Amino acid sequence: MNNVMKLMQEHSSVRSYTNDKIDLSLLQAIITSGQSAASSSFIQAYSVVRVVDSAKRNTIAEAAGGQGWIRDAAEFMVLCADMQRINYASIKNAEGELKGYTEHFLAATVDTALMAQNMLLAAESAGLGGVFIGGIRNDPEVVAETLALPKHVFPAFGLCLGWPEQKNAVKPRMPVSTILHQDTYNVDAVAASVDDYDESFAAYYGSRGSNAKSSDWSAPTARAIQGKRREHMLAFLQERGFLKC
Ligand SMILES: Cc1cc2nc3c(=O)[nH]c(=O)nc-3n(C[C@H](O)[C@H](O)[C@H](O)COP(=O)(O)O)c2cc1C
Repeated sequence: MNNVMKLMQEHSSVRSYTNDKIDLSLLQAIITSGQSAASSSFIQAYSVVRVVDSAKRNTIAEAAGGQGWIRDAAEFMVLCADMQRINYASIKNAEGELKGYTEHFLAATVDTALMAQNMLLAAESAGLGGVFIGGIRNDPEVVAETLALPKHVFPAFGLCLGWPEQKNAVKPRMPVSTILHQDTYNVDAVAASVDDYDESFAAYYGSRGSNAKSSDWSAPTARAIQGKRREHMLAFLQERGFLKC
């Protein structure tokens, strides 16, 4: 394993930060590293909105369910899937306004996620910690309004960054054998894989130094996914010009 892989495998989300700031030059280097991710047809369909205004941060923290680390982090950014520039390019080149194809939504969302993960990894390589904030999709209208996001742009998730005050233990992922299929998808292995992972995850949770709990993986995860149905998302995205056909 080389140093890059080691860094990747040491990732854990950080939600507790010191009061130290992040130099603007470091922040810019992190964003530049994010932009180096591959991009579907080189559309570069993302924008980063850095939120420095404390009232705006507060509004977004509340919209995200009261997540205090959005207020406390040295930097909080909203990572947007952004087809605004491609829309302009299409009009400029006589192709007309974007129609809102599902494929374009997927391409922009994937581009944004790849850029975001590159950013977090770059930040972690500099000793920073961070956490993504999908909670902003609890009330995406408020986020879009607070940040004056135009049509063809939607807030995908947030990113808090800061110097770690406290780090969680690394959460053990599923074994490679569970997620790696060869030639065909092995659906027959799903139940046993989840059951095995539940068992090993319960042992991990029980033995954690801080925040030990008695739980497996599937129960809280199945519960959490029910709580995040966000039924408003389809109408919200369509109103922004996505997922229309
Ligand atoms: C797209 C995305 C959205 C997330 N949203 C939140 C969030 O709103 N609040 C939060 O505290 N953590 C959030 N997380 C962090 C996950 O809870 C975390 O990555 C997961 O539990 C695994 O833990 P680890 O990152 O420490 O390994 C999010 C992660 C991703 C990838």
